[in-house]
Formats: sequence, C-alpha cells, structure tokens
Amino acid sequence: MHSHSFLRTLPFPTHSPKPFLALAAASSSSSGSGFELSVSDAELASRGFAVRRDAEGLDVGALNDVFARVGFPRRDPARLRRALAAGGAGGAVVWVAPSPPASAAPVAFARATGDGVFNAVVWDVVVDPSHQGLGLGRAVVERVVAELRRKGVGNIALYAEPRVVGFYRPLGFAADPDGIRGMVYSRKNQKRNR
Ligand SMILES: CC(C)(COP(=O)(O)OP(=O)(O)OC[C@H]1O[C@@H](n2cnc3c(N)ncnc32)[C@H](O)[C@@H]1OP(=O)(O)O)[C@@H](O)C(=O)NCCC(=O)NCCS
Repeated sequence: MHSHSFLRTLPFPTHSPKPFLALAAASSSSSGSGFELSVSDAELASRGFAVRRDAEGLDVGALNDVFARVGFPRRDPARLRRALAAGGAGGAVVWVAPSPPASAAPVAFARATGDGVFNAVVWDVVVDPSHQGLGLGRAVVERVVAELRRKGVGNIALYAEPRVVGFYRPLGFAADPDGIRGMVYSRKNQKRNR
C-alpha cells in the first residue's frame, strides 16, 4: 500500500506511516458569506471545465482511476458510493470535469465529511496528473470550504503530507493551530501501548 494512503483510508495500514500534519482552518464567523473564490464557475466554464457540487452522476470508476494515477489506493466502488452519499449531507463533494459535453469523469475532486454544524474534515483532494498546475486543486478545495462555511461549519480540518502543506496554507489552513496535534488511531499502536 502506498505510504500516504493512510491519510485517506481506514483501517490504516500497519506499517509505520510517515509523519503527518493536522491542519485546521478555524473560522470565528458562522457566516459563509464573503468567501472569495479565486476562480469563478463561469471562468472555469470558459476554460472548458464544469463544476459539480454533489456526487450525483459522478463516475466512481473514473475517480478511482484518478486516485490510482496519483498513487492513492483504489476503493471498492460500492463502498465509495456509500461514503460519498453519507458524507454529502453534513459535508461537501466538489468535482470538476471537462465540458462540453458534461462528463461524469472527474479531473479534480475533493470532499469533506462532517456534522453539518460545527466540524468537518476534508478528504481525497486529487487532481489528475494531466490537469495539475492549472488551479483546479485550489478551485475544488475553495469550493469545499465555501460550501462548509455556507452551512455555518467553522472548524475545518484535514491531514496533509508534508509535501502538500504549502498547497493548503494559502487556502487558510494552518499546521498545529494553538499547538493542537492531529492523532490517528491505529490498531498496531493500540496493541503496542497495552
Ligand atoms: C496537491 C494537488 C491537489 C494540487 O492540485 P493542483 O491542481 O496541481 O494545484 P493548483 O494548480 O490548484 O495550485 C494552486 C497553487 O498551489 C501551488 N501548489 C500546488 N501543489 C503544491 C505543493 N505540493 N506544494 C506547495 N504548493 C503547491 C501551486 O503552485 C499554485 O500556486 P500559485 O497560486 O502561486 O500559482 C495535486 O498536485 C494532486 O492531486 N496531488 C496528488 C494527490 C495529493 O497529494 N493530494 C493531497 C492530499 S493530502
């Protein structure tokens, strides 16, 4: 299993994971208004990309292909569909696909799970290697954050590999805010500490 897959799949692998950073974007305001997107849906459309804000119609096979191309593990399609459906209500799902014609195959994807009121965690931020460096990663994360803030969710966290911390920082995420550390359950650690 790829070394950074522990950030995205449960149960976590039993080999030693690389260190991870927990990041959180805390918003004192419960209002989602005023959150600026660096690129509008209309601008993206003019560049040939359609933005979707729910999992409806998403080709999970194509999403799995993107996961595989960036080194993430493929997920069981039925379980992935369930996770997307369950996470949608309290969280957010955003993906970008080439258009027209509107395609169900994403080139950029991000999602968050949460309680829809206080807390959310961002997962599975991916951009197909063929479309990286075009601003699509930023576009999907901004929209996930905007959707959460629109719901009034003020505490938004994610786990990041050290090599992508610089990607998240300008998007409002800070490492170890107020010294708070992310902790991840693993059966191996539990056994070791007994
Ligand atoms: C990380 C990832 C989502 C970035 O997506 P992307 O579409 O290539 O990034 P964008 O084009 O939106 O970049 C936005 C900005 O972040 C910067 N950036 C992109 N990747 C970065 C990185 N790894 N570290 C620091 N900055 C980064 C870009 O240079 C750009 O900066 P600019 O505004 O000064 O031009 C993408 O590279 C990816 O899918 N990687 C593999 C999967 C992964 O690691 N996901 C993160 C899970 S923790």
